[in-house]
Amino acid sequence: MDAAILDVSVATPKYYVKHEELAKARGIDPDKYRYGLGCWEMAVCSPGEDAVTLAAQAAFDLLQRHPNVADQIGLCVVGTESGVDQAKPIAIYLHQLLNLPKSCRAFEVKHACYGGTAGLQMARAWTQQHPKRYALVITTDIARYERYSPGESTQGAGAVAMLIGSAAAEQTLLTLSKESGVHANEVYDFWRPTYQSTAQVKGKFSISCYLDGLVEAFEDYKARENDHTEPDYFLFHVPFPRMARKAFRRLSDHKGLNYSDEMIENVFENKVEPGLWINRRIGNIYTGSLYLMLAGLCEREGEKLRDKRIALFSYGSGSCSEYFTGTFGHNLPKPHLHNILNWRKEVDVATYEQLHDEALAMERNQSLRIELEDLQHPFTFLGIRDHERIYKRNDLAIQSTSAKDNDSISPTIRAC
Ligand code: HMG
Repeated sequence: MDAAILDVSVATPKYYVKHEELAKARGIDPDKYRYGLGCWEMAVCSPGEDAVTLAAQAAFDLLQRHPNVADQIGLCVVGTESGVDQAKPIAIYLHQLLNLPKSCRAFEVKHACYGGTAGLQMARAWTQQHPKRYALVITTDIARYERYSPGESTQGAGAVAMLIGSAAAEQTLLTLSKESGVHANEVYDFWRPTYQSTAQVKGKFSISCYLDGLVEAFEDYKARENDHTEPDYFLFHVPFPRMARKAFRRLSDHKGLNYSDEMIENVFENKVEPGLWINRRIGNIYTGSLYLMLAGLCEREGEKLRDKRIALFSYGSGSCSEYFTGTFGHNLPKPHLHNILNWRKEVDVATYEQLHDEALAMERNQSLRIELEDLQHPFTFLGIRDHERIYKRNDLAIQSTSAKDNDSISPTIRAC
């Protein structure tokens, strides 16, 4: 029995904007976004959504699918760089919203986009020591850059929840390699000072830091792990989908695989693209981007993944990189990503701009503002009063939406 990922679920905000529309509004050739960056749609939060509600939705979905484990969750770890408080972790809001057991460690980890992987590795070690208990690892983020900045088109938002436990291959989704390759290197490529709601970034420099981290982490992995067979699939941290293409090219060249341009297109199409389609439609979700790609792969390939080998690369600016591998098990449920995407509503660029600016103002002004429609959702952020964040779990919405299985309701509920 190995500690493994047993299941995965995804939550994404209610709204999205099409990159084609954003390009037109910014006077940019839409092909730059579609092909140059590989982005098609970008998730946009409503006023009632934040990193806590997204995380709660993703984890709630997961627990609904595994009702027998809920009272054996002994660890709830949240990887995020969209922390809502300097001291109080998102994990403790989730502990309350999800009615987790009292005997449960609940905390947050941070290292930019690497935080989710740090949490996952910690949870894996913990479940190895506690084979009868389970861990929840949740990655949740809202990627926000200044409007009109080069980073604007690489925004997004969403959460991925993973259930970790010790099980035989028949019950696992993905068992991770015992060894990882790691590379830490202090740089200012992307960061967000505590007094800012949007990120600072040196775009081109961040790309080269990412690629250097990939090669260094891979070399460290190679030195530790004896099995060097080529994986069947590759998952990368995806700040924008074209980055996965750059990473795959760099890694293949580094290994001396000598792919021609045509060959690499074919290999990429078979080994990387099967997971990447979902990142094209949601955008960068920072800590969750790598695991969103895992969910995309599970949705697209399903049972084909049985016993297949996979390589994963996690990068967090600042920076920490990790390269590891895994083997798929035999429990390969689809994460209902098409339901999640169909549930969303498209907004125009003017509405996206208004929501973007209002979200920043709300954090600054500590206001209480909510759309009536949001109150029908299972988890809603009502706003800030007396410096306290107020969240509502709507049991009526949970029950009625579960019963109706209606197309207009939250995907989290429908996935149950
Ligand atoms: P930019 O200046 O807007 O774009 O910045 P560009 O001029 O570099 O163009 C981008 C690509 O589009 C280029 O392709 C162009 O040739 C192509 P490349 O040379 O790279 O192959 N292009 C076109 N293609 C087709 N038709 C056209 C056309 N025009 C141009 N008409 C940048 C892009 C990604 C730098 C910017 O969006 C940015 O700063 N993003 C945020 C930072 C980022 O995502 N960094 C990635 C690595 S760091 C990381 O992953 C960590 C992170 O997730 C945070 C964390 O760890 O927490 C960000």
